Parts: sequence; structure tokens; C-alpha cells
Amino acid sequence: MSTFWSLWIIVLTVTNLVLLLWLLLVNRRREVKGPDTGETKTTGHEYDGIEEYDNPLPRWWFYGFLASFVFTAFYLYAYPGLGNWKGAKWDEYQDSWTSVNELRYDQQQAEELYQQTYGAFGKMPITELANKPDAMRIAQTLFMDNCALCHGADAGGNPGFPSLVDKDWLYGGTPEKILETITHGRKAAMPAWGSLIGEESVANVAEYVLGLSGAEHDKTKAELGQKVFSANCVACHGADGKGNQQMGAPNLTDNIWLYGKKPEEIRYTIRQGRNGVMPAQIENLKADKIHLLAAYVYSLSLE
Ligand code: HEC
Ligand code: HEC
Repeated sequence: MSTFWSLWIIVLTVTNLVLLLWLLLVNRRREVKGPDTGETKTTGHEYDGIEEYDNPLPRWWFYGFLASFVFTAFYLYAYPGLGNWKGAKWDEYQDSWTSVNELRYDQQQAEELYQQTYGAFGKMPITELANKPDAMRIAQTLFMDNCALCHGADAGGNPGFPSLVDKDWLYGGTPEKILETITHGRKAAMPAWGSLIGEESVANVAEYVLGLSGAEHDKTKAELGQKVFSANCVACHGADGKGNQQMGAPNLTDNIWLYGKKPEEIRYTIRQGRNGVMPAQIENLKADKIHLLAAYVYSLSLE
């Protein structure tokens, strides 16, 4: 803001305040008038025979007004409000107040508190942490706040969001793999086969996949589907259909389904492809918190 506009605002603000104060003081009445005091002077206003006594403001009101002027003076000194004036320096911000400074200060306070709580856990091995009830109680709260939305409050999963309690891992269930998944996230790439192999092959290979998991299926179609599978799917899902944790290709033989077990859901997956995304948490959560969460997820697979 240029100096002119800054001064302009300062002059306007201060003049207004002075005028308001002047109005308040000039119109001040001290004596109470009315029938009880024998005096009946009114303001002269009359509405339908009702007249208004010319009485002082209630005392609390008057002093309330004065107090608000004192507050205004303090406020305009301490906070930005008068043109370019940035406000007084605050000890905790080592600068004048701004919402950003206040946020930084609060974050710093929270960080110190957080270090007291999580700092020690961060140094413990995941396998050890997973058996510490007090650490796991905190971890469960973290899970509720950051993970339950997708994986469910009981970590039992939702369609498209894997269960974390079933001991069946897309990317591996060792402490290292879990930590890696949470820290950097995962992006699955199941290609769409519909336009490549045609609807008939989609239907056949779906029957073959159903057969792999031991579900009811059409034997003739599955036999045709096996060829489609060998030609297109083994690179990721493996010759035996047991999957590949390097790429998060699920085991198709275990009757645990990420996207549903109905034949039409399986055909949909094969026809359209799937790209499940586990968002990376490293930006969101600090390494210590991720460490604690990894221990929590690991602990779920121990039960
Ligand atoms: C490039 C590697 C790749 C190839 C090739 C591939 N898949 Fe997949 N497939 C995946 C991945 C990765 C997923 C997991 C997708 C996700 O998590 O979003 C998946 C998921 C699936 C699922 C869902 C499983 C579930 O639990 O819901 C089925 C069914 C499936 N694939 C069948 C096939 C068939 C049939 C073929 C061959 C026509 C095939 N895939 C080829 C990588 C592959
Ligand atoms: C926006 C939804 C979402 C949120 C939030 C989320 N996840 Fe995930 N997560 C996924 C999806 C989707 C996958 C599966 C990716 C795939 O299809 O390959 C996944 C996969 C995982 C896996 C791998 C499971 C396996 O079988 O290998 C772990 C572990 C995991 N998430 C833990 C967490 C934790 C801990 C949190 C909380 C910090 C979290 N997730 C938050 C969506 C989410």
C-alpha cells in the first residue's frame, strides 16, 4: 500500500474514533428525570402520546463504551489495522502478528509435544512396537484419523481398498514392505483388456480366474480362458496365478477379492482394467508417525 493510502486509512480511522468518543461525551446526561424525581423533562419526541425521558445511558453501558475504546486502542497498537502499521512485536512470533506467524508458532508447539510422544517410538523396531499396547493405542487413533476412511475402521477393507487384517498382501507384509507402502504410496496397473482380446476372451478368462480361486465356473469357457491367461496374464499374475508382490498383482487363487467376487465384477476388472492408488503419506505425516502406523498394520497381521 502506498504511503498516501496508508495515511488516508489512518486519518479516517482515527478521526472516526475521535468523533465517536466526542459524541458519547457531549451527549452525556447525569441527572435522572421522571415522575419519581419530580422532573419530567423529555427529549421532546412524541409518538402516539408516548414521550421519551431525556435520561442518561445506564452506567454499565457508558463504561462499556469507554472500555471498547480502550480495547480499540490496544488492538490497533498490537495488530495490523492502521494502514501500513504491522502491529507490535510479539515475543512468541519474534515478529508482529500475522495468521501465518500464529500458525507456525502453533505448529512448532505441536511439534515439540509430538516429539515427546512419538520421538521414543520412532527409534524402536517395528516388531517390538507392534507388541507395545500403549504405542498401539496411539497408533489406532492415527489410523482412525488417516486411514480408516479408505481401509475401514477395523482395517477390514472396502471394495477397491484392501483389507489389512487378512494376511494376504498385495505388496508384502514384512515391516520393511509395509513401511515402504505407507511412506511412498503404491499405484497399481492392471491393464484394460477389453479392446485387446475382445469380449469373448474376457468372458472365458474370467471363468478361468474363477476356477483358479475354486469358485463355481463354466469348465468349457475356462479351458479356452486358460490359453488367454497364459498368453496375457502370467507376466504379472504368475503362471500359477499366485500374483506378484513386486507389482502388486494380486493372488488370484485365494478367493480374496479386492474388487469383488461376482463374475460380472471380475469381467469388469479384466475388461476395463484397475488402477488402485494408495496415497503416499510422507508429505502428510512425519516419519515417526508412519513408523508407528507401520507397526500398527504389522500388529494386525499378528492376531
Ligand atoms: C501389467 C501387469 C498385469 C497384467 C499383464 C495383468 N494384470 Fe491383472 N492385475 C494387475 C494388478 C497390478 C492388479 C491389481 C489392481 C489394483 O490393485 O488396482 C490386477 C488385478 C486383477 C484382478 C482383480 C483381483 C481382485 O482381487 O479383485 C483380476 C481378476 C485380474 N487382475 C485378472 C487379470 C487377467 C485375467 C489378466 C490377463 C488378461 C491380467 N489380470 C493381466 C496386474 C496385471
Ligand atoms: C485414499 C484412500 C486411502 C487412504 C487414505 C489410505 N490408503 Fe492404504 N491403500 C489404498 C489403496 C487403494 C490400496 C491398494 C492399492 C492397490 O490397489 O494396489 C492401499 C494399500 C495399502 C497397503 C498395502 C496392502 C497390501 O496388501 O500390500 C497398506 C499397508 C496400506 N494401504 C496402509 C495404509 C495406511 C497405514 C494408511 C493411513 C496412513 C492408508 N493406507 C491410507 C487406499 C488408501
